[in-house]
Amino acid sequence: MSVAMNRQRKVTTHVLSEMKHNNEKIAMLTAYDYSMAKIVDQAGLDVILVGDSASNVMAGWETTLPITLDQMIYHGASVVRAVNRALVVVDLPFGTYQGNSKEALTSAIRIMKETAADAVKIEGGEEIIESVKRILSAGIPVMGHLGLTPQSIHKFGTYTVRAKQEEEANKLIEDARLLQEAGCFGIVLEKIPAKLATQVAQELTIPIIGIGAGNGVDGQVLVIHDMLGINQEFSPRFLRRYHNLYAEMTGAVQNYIQDVKSVDFPSEREQY
Ligand code: KIV
Repeated sequence: MSVAMNRQRKVTTHVLSEMKHNNEKIAMLTAYDYSMAKIVDQAGLDVILVGDSASNVMAGWETTLPITLDQMIYHGASVVRAVNRALVVVDLPFGTYQGNSKEALTSAIRIMKETAADAVKIEGGEEIIESVKRILSAGIPVMGHLGLTPQSIHKFGTYTVRAKQEEEANKLIEDARLLQEAGCFGIVLEKIPAKLATQVAQELTIPIIGIGAGNGVDGQVLVIHDMLGINQEFSPRFLRRYHNLYAEMTGAVQNYIQDVKSVDFPSEREQY
């Protein structure tokens, strides 16, 4: 199949599995709205994550905890309406799956019905495995998320690198195995030592996507506001900035203000 044809093919969980087995890296970014999703999908991105990081970058909250299921559904549906090719994964927000597996299933069903997304993502390992199994039993694809799990920030107390000590590293490996055995189609590993992430990616057969987890995994994910340089306040070591959109947009807005005030805009050609 030609590269051009391949780029047209809708990405499914099966395609991601093939990519891992063909040693083709998976490119994933977040998006939360129609316009951004259209750009990243048409650019050829493999996976769009409608992350609960929307709580930070869209709503201005300090943590991901405040965002609600209704708000995630709003973002998810906006993204899905723009997308032709990428696999769309929507985060289950804090408080919608930890309590019991029945509630987890109800939340996941709402996301699938009301957004038409392809899958959900859920943070945690053994402690939420019943929820993962119940969601999977309804035929909903689930992506896991281990390492730094921002919904547990009040338990961790800091956003520093996780699983540096042997005990936590062993638990993470065990959790990753459990998620795979339960039937997850992939796992995000956030902010853990590269060596540990590589070990998990080599041991597991499902795709492992890293964020701050080195290059020995099967793919990478970043928050789009961070990699485009829209968000200036967040500069962890793992982040590569591909643009300084904050400066570009500030310049464009300043030019507009100047043109309005000097009556340069609108010109003769820009009026009826
Ligand atoms: O919500 C999010 O953006 C995420 C990524 C950081 C993986 O979960």
